[in-house]
Amino acid sequence: MSEKGLTGFARFRRRRRSEALRGLTAETRLSASDFIYPMFVTGGAGLRRPIDPMPGCYQLSVDEAVKEAGKAHGAGVPAVLLFGLPASKDDLGTSAMDPDEAVQRAVGEIKSSMPELCVITDVCLCEYTSHGHCGALTAEGEVDNDATLPLLAGAALSHARAGADAVAPSAMMDGQVASIRASLDGAGFHSTAILGYSAKYASAFYGPFRTAADSAPSFGDRRGYQMQPANRSEAMGEIAADVEEGADMVMVKPALAYLDVIAEAKRRFDVPVAAYNVSGEYSMLHAAAANGWIDGRRAVLEVLTSIKRAGADAIITYSACDASRWLAGES
Ligand code: PBG
Repeated sequence: MSEKGLTGFARFRRRRRSEALRGLTAETRLSASDFIYPMFVTGGAGLRRPIDPMPGCYQLSVDEAVKEAGKAHGAGVPAVLLFGLPASKDDLGTSAMDPDEAVQRAVGEIKSSMPELCVITDVCLCEYTSHGHCGALTAEGEVDNDATLPLLAGAALSHARAGADAVAPSAMMDGQVASIRASLDGAGFHSTAILGYSAKYASAFYGPFRTAADSAPSFGDRRGYQMQPANRSEAMGEIAADVEEGADMVMVKPALAYLDVIAEAKRRFDVPVAAYNVSGEYSMLHAAAANGWIDGRRAVLEVLTSIKRAGADAIITYSACDASRWLAGES
């Protein structure tokens, strides 16, 4: 029998009458286990520096990062993603592979206090280079793809040595996954996974992050290496290349303006697809909510649900702890 009754039209509203019915018929179910929580780690101790455009997010010293990871873990979030603010920067971003830098130390401490929490590290040079680009520069000031690969591989290896479960290269250099896989395997880290930032767009929505991570380019922009927003087929090519090079998981970033890309990636590939609900997406909702223009809690959950509905297997979000608490019925 169809949904039509004597009136001759379908009554979809029968399924929407109560919370129980809506719960029973929900096609997408968001849960804390979907989330990866990004954190910014810096040197020093006892530091919890608020990030202006991202209310509720902080630059954390290693000891505070361990506490924050504990908070995420306690809320049921299965993974954290670490970004580092180094003590020093140079042209090649060499501090990215320093075993004593904040990220490497945070990995070690988080893994030793919460071994079951998955620790993923962002692998890029923009926080570590004096010029803020994601790789080494040529004499002309262009980002040099092949000269950057060993630097990224070195950074990834130092994260693996510190105990990272997965490394996530985000520099958008061609061949970065292959070169990291080779360096990890060469040192015996066969079990360290790679989450490729495969389809990463040159987006205006990274603005707040660059304040948070002190990683804005000092000249030019990233359009020479990150993808242009107009392209979807190219994203499939990027993802296919990362899978071919050995990526265990792939990513589409940002999420909201690229839901079509997430959906197609999920349809086309047999690897888990993560989506990054980026800083600008977070800031927009928080700014609107702070002005009383939208209900922040409902908007955050709606956005996260839409990203999951589009096909994301995991969602990287600064709202991971809040959303997990809300989903558990807490305030
Ligand atoms: C590093 C990196 C960026 C983000 C994640 N990794 C910034 C950029 O590419 O400029 C952005 C994350 C966010 O906006 O939340 N390359």
